Amino acid sequence: TPDEWIPRDRELVRLTGKHPFNAEAKLGDLYTQGFITPSNLFFVRNHGAVPKISQQDANNWKLKIHGLCANPVVLTLADLYTKFRVVTLPVTLVCAGNRRKEQNIVQKSLGFSWGAGGVSTALFTGIYLADVLEYARPTRSAKHVIFEGCDDLPNGPYGTSQLLNWARDRQKGMMLAWGMNGLALEPDHGYPLRLVVPSQIGGRSVKWLTRIELSATESQHHLHFHDNKVLPMPLGPEQARKEQEWWYDSRYMIRELSVNSAIACPDHNEVLDTTTASATYTVQGYAYAGGGRRVTRVELSTDSGATWNLTSINYPEDAFRSAGYTSDPIYGEVDMSDTEMCYCWCFWSYEMPVKRLQGSRAIIVRAMDESMAVQPRDMYWNATGMMNNWWFRVCIHQLE
Ligand code: MTE
Repeated sequence: TPDEWIPRDRELVRLTGKHPFNAEAKLGDLYTQGFITPSNLFFVRNHGAVPKISQQDANNWKLKIHGLCANPVVLTLADLYTKFRVVTLPVTLVCAGNRRKEQNIVQKSLGFSWGAGGVSTALFTGIYLADVLEYARPTRSAKHVIFEGCDDLPNGPYGTSQLLNWARDRQKGMMLAWGMNGLALEPDHGYPLRLVVPSQIGGRSVKWLTRIELSATESQHHLHFHDNKVLPMPLGPEQARKEQEWWYDSRYMIRELSVNSAIACPDHNEVLDTTTASATYTVQGYAYAGGGRRVTRVELSTDSGATWNLTSINYPEDAFRSAGYTSDPIYGEVDMSDTEMCYCWCFWSYEMPVKRLQGSRAIIVRAMDESMAVQPRDMYWNATGMMNNWWFRVCIHQLE
């Protein structure tokens, strides 16, 4: 209930001023929690104030589904709970600005500085969007599904859209969710209802969801165009602000996540004991890919990329792939048997021989996904500072 919501004095690092609330966990804290991020450490990205929604408001919540469909309908949360199959799925959300800080160090972009903690995973409970669309019966002319939240932003509510063909593909796992880690969504995460879109940037997972429209054209919401773009070089932030056309160019719109990874251990500037040459040091971190693709290799280098060491990868979501997985005492039934796609991050680790750390000033990680896309050596600096996925590095120091 609203009384039980987690207060904001949590261990998140605020990235913007007091308002709106944007925050990430320290990478070490995030990593230590493992596969499922507790809600109090889950990153938050809000464009404006969180709508004040009481439990009573939630009881009267109305989701309007309209536009090019044979069965336009207004559904309450109770309708959603009872008319459709309820599922719980693990999903990793990633802000398109994850790792932007590195870009801002090179040149300030339009966005604020995320470290590598703009990524989190939760067990989301709700229903498949595909089932709701089937219920609404889109007409042949419908090509897009538009989603709108009820936050009150200067240029209208937050909204964006999906291609209908993607949205009705159950494999892609898009959900209307009311639960997060076994409890109601926190206000910061979209209470009482949000869209959850696995494998795409977090910006597609509309919070405080009130409206779904079937349409022949994509969303016309301000932030559908003026956000979540990787604009081409050499556009600096000032020109980007003035530039109008490119924001409307769908080629630059970000949908699926790109392959990315980060080192959680050691921490930046950690002093390592490399005096015992026969010892090993466990290097660990996370990786993820987009579009449902799997990370197939993660490699480490201690010599600026001249040679690489292959790490071992663990995909915790695989445990949920057997039908009717029920052994989790808190979250109950989690069932990924509807999909072959990857929705979550993975973890990698490597026992680095201390010998290889001796004299090294940095450890570098890069990942590859099953489409053989690999993280680039060089940064693709861009005006919005989004989708930064060049090789991640931590500086290390050694005991003399
Ligand atoms: N939905 C609404 N209504 N308003 C928002 O500001 N932010 C988006 C998305 N959905 C946003 C939204 C962005 S950019 C991201 S990355 C995710 O929500 C973040 O979700 P979280 O705060 O639950 O982590």
